[in-house]
Amino acid sequence: MSAVGLLGEIADVGRDRSRGGYSRHVFDSAEGELRTWFTEQAGRRGLDVETDRNGNLWAWWGTPGPGAVVTGSHLDSVPGGGAFDGPLGVVSALDAVARLKESGVRPRRPLAVLVFAEEEGGRFGVPCLGSRLLTGAIDADRARALRDPDGVTLAEAARRMGFAPERFGRDEEALSRIGTFLELHVEQGRGLVDLGSPVAVGSTVLAHGRWRFTFTGEGNHAGATLMTDRHDPMLPAAAVVSAARRIASKVAGARATVGRILPKPGGTNVIASTVDLWLDARGPARPVVDEIAEVARQAAADEGCEVRLTEESFSDTVTFDSGLRKRLRDRLGGVPELPTGAGHDAAVLAAHVPAGMLYVRNPTGISHAPEEFAEDDDVEHGVRALTETLGDLST
Ligand code: GLV
Ligand code: MN
Ligand code: MN
Ligand code: MN
Repeated sequence: MSAVGLLGEIADVGRDRSRGGYSRHVFDSAEGELRTWFTEQAGRRGLDVETDRNGNLWAWWGTPGPGAVVTGSHLDSVPGGGAFDGPLGVVSALDAVARLKESGVRPRRPLAVLVFAEEEGGRFGVPCLGSRLLTGAIDADRARALRDPDGVTLAEAARRMGFAPERFGRDEEALSRIGTFLELHVEQGRGLVDLGSPVAVGSTVLAHGRWRFTFTGEGNHAGATLMTDRHDPMLPAAAVVSAARRIASKVAGARATVGRILPKPGGTNVIASTVDLWLDARGPARPVVDEIAEVARQAAADEGCEVRLTEESFSDTVTFDSGLRKRLRDRLGGVPELPTGAGHDAAVLAAHVPAGMLYVRNPTGISHAPEEFAEDDDVEHGVRALTETLGDLST
């Protein structure tokens, strides 16, 4: 079955009726269903599936071992995300492996399809958690203690899914097996539409990070509390929202977003006692966050509130392996290169192994939203490019 057919098979898994799109979060029932589905599909293609110490799924063609050509992506989504971010890379990998098998290719190096856990950080807040754990980019104790919005720790969620969280952490053996990593992904902006090309080779990934502001004020009655008597943490939170826009707009290449804010207790007629707010900043992120933090401190002081700032994750700028990029360009002939502001597991792996990416055109230019899209013809271009490259790298 083609990549497009495979995407059709999972089209009903994890649909989010209230937000629209998909909500598939690590170790929840939708993601679990996708893991079972992936295992079955890989088995049908004669691949042997195993889970590594960090909950990432590997489907092997050939004996697992060093120097393997590895391709894949993720099956989790942001809340209310699109159908392509992640799954497109997984189904394209399954399709490409099947095509290589059908064409009688005999790889000299083992080949594997890899599905990373919690790429979006949609449940536990840290993106690319599976690849960060695998490479040791996050401390395993810190990861195990991460909590989802219901207060469930990563360790508890993993255990409920049958994983052993005490084994989480840098996995030298798994890492040593990756000779080359290649991730196919839907493009998350308009780059390929503007270039008029169905596919591109990834060049760089913007630095990006997530920061949490916790404002503490005084919970009180919305009607009985005089305007002069309030310590409302929503005020400094609002200042951060507008400062993010104002400050990032002044800095070339910077992006700053507040996409999530949590007032507690969260009642219409209640002055909140605390507000948690998450800031996603990219490009020259740290100076931008420093400036926003200054605004937050001033606005909190003006309102008689406290503020605490925590850096929850940070990834520096990544340039994908130049040798691999050249090989992809030579092999695919005339394919453009494209930078991105979106983070990927391939970028985490790039510090350890030659890693690269292929992007497939997204006609809407929209991602992390239900409007994310790829035309069947463009998916076919992407799968062909992936098949050719995997064949080239593994023989
Ligand atoms: C993940 O897709 C991100 O870039 O936020
Ligand atoms: Mn994403
Ligand atoms: Mn993705
Ligand atoms: Mn991503």
